[in-house]
Amino acid sequence: MIKLHDLYFKPFISAQEIDAAVQNMVDAIALELGDEMPVFIGILNGSFMLVSDFVKKYPKPCEVTFIKLASYEGVKSTEDIQRLIGLTQDLTGRTVILEDIIDSGNTLEEVHRIFKNENVKQLLIATLFYKPESYDKDFKLHYVGMEIPNKFIVGYGLDYNGLGRGLPDVYQLKTTQHMTNLVLFGPPGAGKGTQANFLKEKYNLVHISTGDVFRYNIKNETALGMLAKSFMDKGELVPDQVTIDMLNKEVEKNAGANGFIFDGFPRTNAQAKALDILMDSKDSQINAMVALEVDDEVLVKRLLERGKTSGRADDADESIIRNRIKEYYTKTAILKNYYSDQNKYFGVDGVGSIEDITVRLSAVIDKL
Ligand code: IMP
Ligand code: MG
Repeated sequence: MIKLHDLYFKPFISAQEIDAAVQNMVDAIALELGDEMPVFIGILNGSFMLVSDFVKKYPKPCEVTFIKLASYEGVKSTEDIQRLIGLTQDLTGRTVILEDIIDSGNTLEEVHRIFKNENVKQLLIATLFYKPESYDKDFKLHYVGMEIPNKFIVGYGLDYNGLGRGLPDVYQLKTTQHMTNLVLFGPPGAGKGTQANFLKEKYNLVHISTGDVFRYNIKNETALGMLAKSFMDKGELVPDQVTIDMLNKEVEKNAGANGFIFDGFPRTNAQAKALDILMDSKDSQINAMVALEVDDEVLVKRLLERGKTSGRADDADESIIRNRIKEYYTKTAILKNYYSDQNKYFGVDGVGSIEDITVRLSAVIDKL
């Protein structure tokens, strides 16, 4: 992912794919023109990189020239095309090939206006990128390198407000802008709930605790809640897809959030993968698993202390506590590996004052 000015872009078309498309255009055009010497006209600024690669590949002698038009403002095409540099050479009787990206076709219309009174033999239009969904003109496109969806792209000559032209690959604008999505982990008693409350305030994140989401859906008898309950009533585990569908609803409810703190999910590799797919479908990703690390003996002491007032039976018995902690480590070791493999695992010392621990967590999040 890259950031240009205020916007984020994700990889879309690789340099190799572009190279293959350029080669195909060269082959088709060279075949059609045979020994005729064409003039290739690039539209500046966007086409400089394509023209350069194109003429290097062109197998026969050719001429190259440029015209300079400007139509785009930010990420929007405008009807008002400015002619910054016009034709500077006589093209009478020549075959002219034009290279560009074609979006609305406004620029192409201007090009046809420019060539109307030039006595060229033929004006062939070749474009590396073509967005059929936004093209609303009737001019024929003779050669198309690649059809692309109606997304704003940068790289390989194309810019967003001046930036991105030098990128060898093409990137597309992300529909969801940057989010900070955390998986919060920690053994029972590590202080996840407390820290999640501070972090969601500080970073304007939405805290999604799977346990709460389950209870909410079951209490409100939503379709997914009833489905989940039907498994629980049979004493079976709720299938991952049901949980993911619930999380999806929560994520969609909070589409404008700066990000999410997932708490209690994922617990297995399969769930971690499902969560990655969910975030990917939102044009986003999990940025980090943040795990609060607390020594077993400290945990046991904290939980026994909590048990005196919480009334939770599972907080009162030391051997039950030790078992829960042990289970946490056996189950989560896999997830630690899952996120470490992607360089997304961050262990944070969970012993100290609440404020100190928040500071440690913030140091990790600020670097994401
Ligand atoms: P059109 O006039 O709408 O067909 O757009 C043509 C011109 O707009 C191109 O020559 C580019 O300079 C610019 N353009 C169109 N689409 C994009 C894009 O996705 N990214 C960057 N520039 C674009
Ligand atoms: Mg441009």
